[in-house]
Amino acid sequence: MFDLNQILIAPSILSADPLNMERDLKSVEGPKGADWHHIDVMDGHFVPNLTFGLPLVKALKKITTLPLDVHIMVSNPDDVADQYLDAGADILTFHVEASKHPHRLIQTIKSSGRKAGIALNPGTALELCFPLLNDLDIVMLMSVNPGFGGQSFIPEAITRTKNLASELKKLNRLNHVRIEVDGGITTDIAKDLIAAGASVLVAGTSVYRMPNRIDAIKALRGK
Ligand code: DX5
Ligand code: ZN
Repeated sequence: MFDLNQILIAPSILSADPLNMERDLKSVEGPKGADWHHIDVMDGHFVPNLTFGLPLVKALKKITTLPLDVHIMVSNPDDVADQYLDAGADILTFHVEASKHPHRLIQTIKSSGRKAGIALNPGTALELCFPLLNDLDIVMLMSVNPGFGGQSFIPEAITRTKNLASELKKLNRLNHVRIEVDGGITTDIAKDLIAAGASVLVAGTSVYRMPNRIDAIKALRGK
C-alpha cells in the first residue's frame, strides 16, 4: 500500500557522465532529490544499444542507500533476473515482450523480497499486463521506444496511463501497483502524467542535462 500523492522521481543514469558515475549519482541525491536511481540495462539484442550490466549495479549498490530501480531491456529476462537480484536491484522491471513466463518471474522477484515490475513498449497492448495486476508492484509504460535516452515523448502514453489507472481502480489496486512512465518526460508532460495517474517518473535528459539537477527533480515532482 502506498500514498498516491507521493510522486517518485527516478533519474536515469543513462544520461549521466559515464566517466563520473559516482559524482553524478550523488549530485541528484538529497532531501528533495531523487527517490530512486534508474539503471537502464540494455543487451544490444532486445534493444539496439548496449549499456550497463551486473558489475555497474553491484558497484552503485555500494555507494548509495537509495533504491536501485533496475530496468532490464534484455531478450532473456527469465534467465538473468536472479543475477540482478543478487547484484542489488531493489526494484526489478523486465519487459513483458521478452519474458516466456512473466507470472513465474514476478513470483521469483517477489520471493526475494524485492519489488517486481513489468515494462510495456509503446506498441504493446496494455491488456497484456491485466492478468498480472494482482501480483505486480509496478507497471512501467514506455513513452519512447526503448534503446536510447533523449527521445521525444509519445503522447499516447498519457491515455495508456489513464486506462491503466482505471483498470487498477476497478480491481481496487490503485494504491498497490504504481504506474511508472519512462522516456522523454519534461516538466510539462510530468504534470499531465501525474494527473493521469502516474506516480513514478523516470527522467534522464530532463534531470542530468540540467544545470541544477535538484531543482529539475523538484519541478518534475511538482513540489
Ligand atoms: C530508454 C530508457 C529510459 C531513458 C530515459 O530506453 O529506458 O530510461 O534513459 O531517458 P530520457 O528521459 O532522456 O528519455
Ligand atoms: Zn528505463
